[in-house]
Order: sequence, then C-alpha cells, then structure tokens
Amino acid sequence: MSERKVINVSTKEAQRQNEIINILAQHISGKGLQYCISTFGCQMNARDSEKIEGMLEQIGYTKTENEEEADFIIYNTCCVRENAELKIYGRLGALKGRRKKNPNFMIALCGCMMQQDIVLDTLKKKFNFIDIIFGTYNIYKLPELLQTRLETKQNVIDIWDSYQDIVEDLPDSRKYDFKACVNIMYGCNNFCTYCIVPYVRGRERSRKPEDIVTEIKALVSEGVKEIMLLGQNVNSYGKTLDEPISFAELLKQINAIEGLKRIRFMTSHPKDLSDELIEVMASCDKICPSVHLPFQSGSTKLLKKMNRHYTKESYLELVRKIKAAIPRVELTTDIIVGFPGETEEDFLDTMEVVEKVHYASAFTFIYSKRTGTPAATMEDQVPEDVTKERFNRLLALVNKQSAATLHKYVGQTVEVLFEEVSKQDDNVLSGRTDTGLLVNTPAPKEYVGKFVKVHIVDNKTHYLIGELAR
Ligand code: 5AD
Ligand code: SF4
Repeated sequence: MSERKVINVSTKEAQRQNEIINILAQHISGKGLQYCISTFGCQMNARDSEKIEGMLEQIGYTKTENEEEADFIIYNTCCVRENAELKIYGRLGALKGRRKKNPNFMIALCGCMMQQDIVLDTLKKKFNFIDIIFGTYNIYKLPELLQTRLETKQNVIDIWDSYQDIVEDLPDSRKYDFKACVNIMYGCNNFCTYCIVPYVRGRERSRKPEDIVTEIKALVSEGVKEIMLLGQNVNSYGKTLDEPISFAELLKQINAIEGLKRIRFMTSHPKDLSDELIEVMASCDKICPSVHLPFQSGSTKLLKKMNRHYTKESYLELVRKIKAAIPRVELTTDIIVGFPGETEEDFLDTMEVVEKVHYASAFTFIYSKRTGTPAATMEDQVPEDVTKERFNRLLALVNKQSAATLHKYVGQTVEVLFEEVSKQDDNVLSGRTDTGLLVNTPAPKEYVGKFVKVHIVDNKTHYLIGELAR
C-alpha cells in the first residue's frame, strides 16, 4: 500500500539533505577544514562510513588519516563485543580539551554503540563535550545535524528507535575505484541470544532489487569490477518486500550485469541457505566460490541456547552440499568460545566442526556479555581462564588449517584482483583470488585494480605468496 509513499518520502528526504549540504558548503568549502573518521566493527559500518565521508566531502571537508590535525573527528562505533566499546571511551578521554586549541574542532559519534541507552547515559555524564551524536537509522541526516550544531552552538543528540525510510541517492565516497560494497538489506530478525545487533540495527528490511541493480550498473559504469553485497543475513533477502524475491533470484539478476566480473556476499546464516542458492552459485560465472558461513558453536545443545535453528549435523550436511556443488569453494566462519553453559564436551564439538570443514580462515571470538541480550542473564557463565584456554586451543587449530588450505595453492596459477600496495613492502601488491584468499606478489603499482595471473610459490598462515605468471 505504502510503496509509492515510501519512495516519495525517501527522495524528498534525500533532496532536503542535499540542499543542506549546499548551504553548509558555502560556509565550509575553501576553509581547509579536515575530517578524520575511525570505523570500528563490521563491513556494514565500513559502508556507512563511506556514506558519511561522501556527505562531508560535498560539504567541503577534506579527509585526513591523522587525528591530530583533524578539525572534525567522527567515530563510527561498534558494540558487538565489550572491547570495542572500551576502546571508544579510551579514545574520547584523550580528545578532551582539543577545542581550546582549535575553535572549529568538533566530535561526532555514531553507529551501533549509540543505540544503547546505557551508552548515552555514560556519554552525558562523563563525556559531555561531544558535539553530535546520532545512530544507525539516521546516518543520512548528518548534514542537518551538523547545521543544527553550527547554528545553535548546542550539542545535538538524535537517536531513533527504529528506521523510517531507506534513503537512496545521497553523496557517497568509495575507498576503492574497482570494488564496492552494496547494502542489499539492513537489520536482523534472528535474535541470536548473545547478539546485540537486532537491538541496535532494528528489524530486517530489504532494498528493492531494481534499486540494487541500478546502483550496481552505475558502479560498473564507473569502473567497478567486484561487488560485495552486504546484509546481516543475506539468505533471507527479499522475503518482506511487497513483491517477495529470493536472494538467489537477486543474484541471477546481478550476474547478468555486463562488465561486472565478481560478486561476493556476506553474511550467510546457515539456517536460511537454500538449495536454490547453492545451484545459482554453482551456475553463475560471476559469483565467487567463497562463502562466509558462521557456525558459532559445534554443540547442538549450545546452538539451541543461541537460538541458531540448526544442529551440528545439519550444518555439516549443508557444508557437504555446498562443497559437492561448488568444488573450488572456500569457506570462512565465525566462532564464539565461552558461551554460557559451554562444557569441555561442547567445545570439543566446535573443534570437530573445524576439523571436518577445513576453513580457509575463521574469526574466533571470546563470548562477550552484552546487556539486554538473553544470554547476558543465563546461568553458567564460563570462567575467563577456562574460556581463554579453549580459545587458544581453537586458534591453534584454525591457524593450522588456514595454513594447510593455503598450502594447497602452492604451484597453482590463479587470477588475482590486486587491491593495494602492501603495508609491509612498497614493491608488493596485495590482492585476492576469487575464492577470497589474500595473495602478496611483487608487482608494479599500475596493476592495482587489475585482474592478473599469479603463480603461487609459497604461503604463510594467512596469505599466499605469488609471482607474476609469465
Ligand atoms: N560475544 C562474542 N562474539 C559475538 N558475536 C556477536 N555477538 C557476540 C558476543 N556477544 C560474533 C558472532 C558474529 C560476529 C559478527 O560477532 O560470531 O557472527
Ligand atoms: Fe547477530 Fe545472529 Fe543477527 Fe548475526 S544473525 S546479526 S549473529 S542476531
């Protein structure tokens, strides 16, 4: 019913913000003001930061990586684990008093952490010098919030409890010319019992396929060759649209875009990964043979307590089907150690899954209690020393398997999309195979953004070492 209205409201809102950008630009452009943004957490936040950067650059700020020389500091925060939050408080403490030295100085905080009342209370009490605070639902409103801050000279806090519209068509700044992230959906409906994300990013909502395809076509016309489709649970994409469509169907439409070379996506929830998706992955040439498939725990008992809706056996069966249909596939995963009630036996189930699946890499996390989630009040929280010891055992296994997976590639010639100059060595470029593996190769800088055949000569635990193939 509200289809048309939603589009109108979004377009109007984008126009309004664009008008404010133009007004702000008259005051800010040419003053040589610099911004520095620090992004914490996941790819979603990284993508949001690109949008923030786009708006600030249109307003007339230029980017600096050096926080010391910045006039405007933005922290795009994460709250998935407590450590990420502690880092923010630490960094804020160090910024106190900067305005005395620079009258233009401002600080903005945004992202998942801001969606929690407990955080806002702490900020108000201990860090009352923050100029602008906004959340995950109203990023597009930054120009207006900045305008209010400048006009009223009052600190601005604008946090919404839920989203209103998906606002399209705002300025955007991309980190790479040849690859881009594209949001296909926002929010999460899964409520895994340890996870804060559904509380801070709201209910699942999908962008319309035509908006996504239009965006990707525009990116391709600007030179983008690889796209990463982003969603907390891409496998449930499209289910709540007025005209429902499956993720697999969306992938087919994207696969047909001329000029695009590689399609990646994350994150897949095992409970929703369909046979249709496996078939489409196997048959579409542009979809990379690489799946990020978090399993969190190998223990069926804990998976139930985590509200994950699959068992150890069904997960392993899913992996078997994926590997059978897509023989070159590489899998990556997320694992949590020390979830409440985890016994040695449960942990050994986790080790068994890792043994059996052979991940190319795995993100391993120590369980972090998040206030407001069901797991936070569960009994049997696991003592820190027990968790730490298990974590180290898991890490050793994961690393051994990563190295073994990479070692299989030694002697092969693979196609690599070079992404950037290596941070360790100016003469080396880093890139990725279609299977998602990192490759370091001595190569000229002009090769950044190009697909190049590379002969793999060696491997370390986390990357391959190559030579340009003759
Ligand atoms: N503690 C530890 N790890 C967590 N994750 C999510 N919530 C928590 C938590 N409370 C991990 C999950 C998820 C990844 C993005 O972060 O493994 O897949
Ligand atoms: Fe968190 Fe689970 Fe949603 Fe992932 S699927 S964001 S782990 S609630």
